[in-house]
Amino acid sequence: MSDIFDLIVIGAGPGGYVAAIRAAQLGLKTVCVDKGRGLGGTCLNVGCIPSKALLHSTHLLEMARRDLAGHGVLCGTVGVDLNVMMARKDRIVAQLTGGIEFLFKKNKIAWIQGTATVTAPGQVSVVDEQGGARTLVAKNILLAPGSLPAQLPGFAFDGEHIISSTEALALKEVPPRLAIIGAGVIGLELGSVWRRLGSQVTVIEFTDGVLPGMDGDLRKQAARVFMKQGLQLRLSTRAESVAVTPEGVVLSLRPAVGDGAAVALEVDRVLVAVGRVPQTQNLGLEGVGIALDARGFIPVDDHYRTVVPGILAIGDCIGGPMLAHKAEEEGVCAVERLVGQGGHVRWENIPGVVYTDPEIAAVGRTEEGLQRDGIAYRVGKFPFSANSRARAVDQIEGFVKILADAASDRILGVHIIGPQAGDLIAEMVLALESDLAAEDVARTCHAHPSLAEAVKEAALAVDRRAIHI
Ligand code: FAD
Ligand code: NAI
Repeated sequence: MSDIFDLIVIGAGPGGYVAAIRAAQLGLKTVCVDKGRGLGGTCLNVGCIPSKALLHSTHLLEMARRDLAGHGVLCGTVGVDLNVMMARKDRIVAQLTGGIEFLFKKNKIAWIQGTATVTAPGQVSVVDEQGGARTLVAKNILLAPGSLPAQLPGFAFDGEHIISSTEALALKEVPPRLAIIGAGVIGLELGSVWRRLGSQVTVIEFTDGVLPGMDGDLRKQAARVFMKQGLQLRLSTRAESVAVTPEGVVLSLRPAVGDGAAVALEVDRVLVAVGRVPQTQNLGLEGVGIALDARGFIPVDDHYRTVVPGILAIGDCIGGPMLAHKAEEEGVCAVERLVGQGGHVRWENIPGVVYTDPEIAAVGRTEEGLQRDGIAYRVGKFPFSANSRARAVDQIEGFVKILADAASDRILGVHIIGPQAGDLIAEMVLALESDLAAEDVARTCHAHPSLAEAVKEAALAVDRRAIHI
């Protein structure tokens, strides 16, 4: 294989691999380098996909234990084979990473396993696991090195008692007592997985609610629902220190504010889920003149160009929502702009979904954000308890909330907690991207009986004319 390319992509996560495919479609001779064993980055190997596989398996378990009898479906004793569950998850990951390998072959993209370092503009050195080195040359380099779990000072990961999401996706047995530090997306998703499998899960959160940054109504409802399900939430609490003992792990907890007394919490494992940090060290960036910002992100302009001509960056490593679909959109946009095409990604219209039960999904502005900025708005809210499909499938918890500009009726934000929220939000992302008004959604025919009717009713509710409440 010749080592001269049009584009070198560093990182084969959803940002990098999608950018590589789009670049190949546009006629660029492309190579993608990743130090991982398989393609797909965090998302496919230790993120989105394994977590959703386990969420689904454990959701079925919970249904079998809690709900099926109410449907007249009797399945006798319900048990768990964790090995089978984990093997199924691993199989799905293998199928999907293999799928990217197939797509690379189909698009004639070279894939090199190894650790990449930028040694000069247009030049990348790659060292493989055996220590073999080679130099790649290209007109352009796209950096997509992604992110890693953030470390909490005093809680160094040991892979056994103090773990990150990576280990929490592959435990060999159910920990009787699991503490999770952080009631963000990972805390709630993986907390749900292990609670359903039988762990007593305590989630310790610094702020006064779950999912900081999301709309207040969603956060309140989510906290209520998860507590009812059996997650123990310790809000406004700071995890101060940890000690590993022969019996397990002892955490010292204090109120987040003030100097209230410390209390001890004894558990078997601690999952630290306090966010992620960009993986931008040891990439050779300083050597070529790219300075990281204070939080370690790579600064870029709106063409995803760094300060060095010919070096671009996308995905988790540049900041903004640390989400797979955001990285993908940026990958496509960056290479299209590179060849002179248009395209844009608006961070404010990137949807966020939490794949718990019920699901939680949001796009655009929160009510608190609009109040803070003094923007006059109207609210339309519709509960799933008044939606006939939600009744038929027995999933009546939650609501759709639409925030629209008081003067123009333009949709500013949508917040959903309830069944299939992650799919329902797609229509509203399109609405925001298209600058639609609540009236546009309210006058669009939605199939009956569907969960999407709750979205239409919330749009009608903005103008106080919902039909079914
Ligand atoms: P990454 O996916 O992190 O990929 C970067 C790649 O670059 C890695 O494979 C890494 O090995 C490689 N790399 C780094 N440095 C080098 C180097 N020097 N040389 C060679 N290779 C290098 N997002 C969602 O949208 N939906 C979800 O449901 C979701 N669930 C998640 C669940 C968990 C448990 C976690 C941890 C994350 C989840 N995310 C989810 C976030 C999502 O995984 C990331 O936002 C996404 O993977 C970022 O994509 P990326 O391409 O920027 O980077
Ligand atoms: P997060 O940013 O979602 O949540 C971290 C939580 O930890 C916050 O609630 C924060 O207040 C809390 N926290 C921070 N420091 C703390 C401390 N010292 N003590 C107690 N609480 C503390 O980060 P998380 O859950 O680790 O996820 C990382 C990233 O992965 C997120 O940015 C998310 O976008 C992505 N992800 C996305 C998923 C999805 O889209 N469904 C699923 C899982 C992860």
